[in-house]
Amino acid sequence: KHRIILDCDPGHDDAIALLLAAHHPAIDLLAITTVAGNQSVEKTALNALKICSLANIRHVPIAKGMDRPLLRPARYAENIHGASGLDGPHIPDPDLALTSQHAVDLIIDLVMASAGDITLVPTGPLTNIAAAMRREPEIIPRIKAISLMGGAIGLGNTTPAAEFNIWCDPEAAAIVFGSGCPITMVPLEVTHQALATEDIVQRLRASGRTIASVVADLLVFFAETYRNVFGFSSPPVHDPCAVAAVIDPTILRSHQMHVEIETVGQWTAGRTICDVYGQLGMAANVQVGYALDVPRFWEMLITTLLTYD
Ligand code: BDR
Ligand code: CA
Repeated sequence: KHRIILDCDPGHDDAIALLLAAHHPAIDLLAITTVAGNQSVEKTALNALKICSLANIRHVPIAKGMDRPLLRPARYAENIHGASGLDGPHIPDPDLALTSQHAVDLIIDLVMASAGDITLVPTGPLTNIAAAMRREPEIIPRIKAISLMGGAIGLGNTTPAAEFNIWCDPEAAAIVFGSGCPITMVPLEVTHQALATEDIVQRLRASGRTIASVVADLLVFFAETYRNVFGFSSPPVHDPCAVAAVIDPTILRSHQMHVEIETVGQWTAGRTICDVYGQLGMAANVQVGYALDVPRFWEMLITTLLTYD
């Protein structure tokens, strides 16, 4: 089993990533840590609690983390995820509580106590991960790998140059990408292939199961905002792709290359500079995904979602 920590900002697609990670038989989900991103950290932590409570995920500690990027003011994606960060279905208040530990401390403790076998799966801004690396650099050689949703080889989705998670906290991303940890980057080129089409939503609904129906409702809200903001006909479920890449790395086609994070550009801050042609002559530091095995992805995700009541 792959032992992972999911560091997230739920978030419609984060919630789905969480459900995949908690029930897939190849994953041992050690902790859920939350960060400011799609919404405030209070809201993303509450949303993680709500999803876990509803889905009866009771064995996984949930910790609240950094409330803003390292240097920049917090900027949320309310236009995509709504005022709650998880708009759409009504999800009851949780009957679970956060752990008292700060997410950064929980990440450090778990990694330091491990045999070097923990994979971090960040699906939000990289603030918690970067803060943990700065607070306790000894974790860096003990992290097995990082499989993150973020960045783009080409166009961004928040500015023309930058993808949301990296754009939120470019300085944190620069720390993580420069850490020397083995990184798999699951960029927009991959996640924009994971489109939750009408027939996917129907398959979930037809099951008549509670969690599948809530996911279907989340996808209907997500479809609406993606239509309005980007003109997409179906919404991309970004974050589960980063979990899927841990479960089965062959679900991605990828290239190893050097990636830098732009932190100073007037128009390009938060851009992931992917040196596809090796023009910088710098050592490769990231395995960059560029294509997804779409049928296998949906098979994995839907099969797992249907294991919930
Ligand atoms: C990323 O931004 C967030 O809105 C999503 O949850 C995903 O992690 C996509 O750019
Ligand atoms: Ca996210």
